[in-house]
Amino acid sequence: MAEALRVGIAGLGTVGASVARVLHDKAAELTRQCGRDIVVSAVSARDPKRDRGVDVSSAKWFDDPVKMAQTADIDVFVELIGGDEGPARLSVKAALEAGRHVVTANKALLAKHGVALAEIAEKKGVLLNYEAAVAGGIPVIKTMREAMAGNSVTRVFGILNGTCNYILTRMEAEGVSFDVVLKDAQRLGYAEADPTFDIEGHDTAHKLSILTSLAFGTKIAANDIYMEGISNITQADIRAAGDLGYRIKLLGVAQRTESGIEQRVHPTMVPTASVIAQVHGVTNAVAIETDILGELLLSGPGAGGNATASAVIGDVADIAKSRPGFQHGPVFGRPAKELKPYKKAQMRSHAGGYFIRLTVHDRIGVFAAIAKRMADNDISLESIVQHAVSGEAAAQKTVILVTHETTEAAVRKAVDGITRDGHLTDKPQVIRIERAG
Ligand SMILES: NC(=O)c1ccc[n+]([C@@H]2O[C@H](COP(=O)([O-])OP(=O)(O)OC[C@H]3O[C@@H](n4cnc5c(N)ncnc54)[C@H](OP(=O)(O)O)[C@@H]3O)[C@@H](O)[C@H]2O)c1
Repeated sequence: MAEALRVGIAGLGTVGASVARVLHDKAAELTRQCGRDIVVSAVSARDPKRDRGVDVSSAKWFDDPVKMAQTADIDVFVELIGGDEGPARLSVKAALEAGRHVVTANKALLAKHGVALAEIAEKKGVLLNYEAAVAGGIPVIKTMREAMAGNSVTRVFGILNGTCNYILTRMEAEGVSFDVVLKDAQRLGYAEADPTFDIEGHDTAHKLSILTSLAFGTKIAANDIYMEGISNITQADIRAAGDLGYRIKLLGVAQRTESGIEQRVHPTMVPTASVIAQVHGVTNAVAIETDILGELLLSGPGAGGNATASAVIGDVADIAKSRPGFQHGPVFGRPAKELKPYKKAQMRSHAGGYFIRLTVHDRIGVFAAIAKRMADNDISLESIVQHAVSGEAAAQKTVILVTHETTEAAVRKAVDGITRDGHLTDKPQVIRIERAG
């Protein structure tokens, strides 16, 4: 049997401790599958005394993950610390430069430094595997990088943040407000004490930027993503969406257009009957559309110790199975030096259907004025309905418009015009509609 593959794990938190536990519990099975043992021979975390729920005492302890990356007797450096700078970046860079394979679950690091790190990995002839960085346990990286060779991707989109999907699912099922569900999600551990990173779309954007690079062969451009979070989604939106045959999801979407590549993260209306609309709670899903394959949807657990460990261990097992001298495939599907510059499509040129909810004064002429603003901007309407707002706000009405395909620029101009006309009593709500099968 080949020599054992020696693994060093930096970070023994939720994911790192799960990886160590599964490598221990499934050692015999992994040996059978890989044809060699996989042993944890070094570990690093901040607190050497903390109980991790797994015995790592046979591995050499390092206070400093960079030192471990440079000097430990390991073949693979597994980075599970997190963060886009500091010890995570320094240790991954050091490991690659020392000619060691790297496995990471760190989307923030890849979104910021992925291309530079890929260049080092490719120069050194080692692997940089990152299946767990996007959609946790769902094998989307392998699918895009390996199983779809020859396909040209036209669009990739998905539910990439479990916290947001959990909140939207409960808002719809229970008819309660965003704030109430968020507090409950924090109590149950589904949302962080500071939830901004998740609910305002940053986490989705990091993952989307990696998928965009794989899909279109472009350099990662995480700062060029149009982003709107879910904190302003109300029960009125969710109810209106349901009445119209839609469900609201926070989607990350990357799409090739005539003017460049669109990368956007925002609340989106998808048809209730579509497959992605059936993805509830903390579950993630990624849809990929290509010229040869057509449409593919992968769905499954996007986070959590064991699900994420499953993806990390799959990456480690790939390295265990690879043979010395074997030429590894490039990190982002094409050699890092050949990744094209990202050509951004302006959000104003985005084409699609729109849902617009307006709260207006209940007076004569308002409905006609709104319809005129739409017509003036060449926006064709699929439907326009108004209904009274009950209770204290009886002098107001809600007008809900659904447009046929139009552009973002036209919608913004029309809504700005309506706002200037002075008919609105509340902020207008605009939600993009996404085609989904
Ligand atoms: N949690 C998930 O469900 C999930 C899903 C997908 C991807 N990820 C990614 O996986 C990575 C790890 O996430 P996690 O949830 O496992 O994080 P976590 O529970 O906070 O664990 C982080 C670990 O890093 C260690 N650490 C922090 N600073 C260090 C330093 N300077 N030197 C050495 N070790 C250090 C910590 O040590 P101590 O324990 O001693 O404090 C801890 O063990 C992140 O990149 C995250 O984005 C997580």
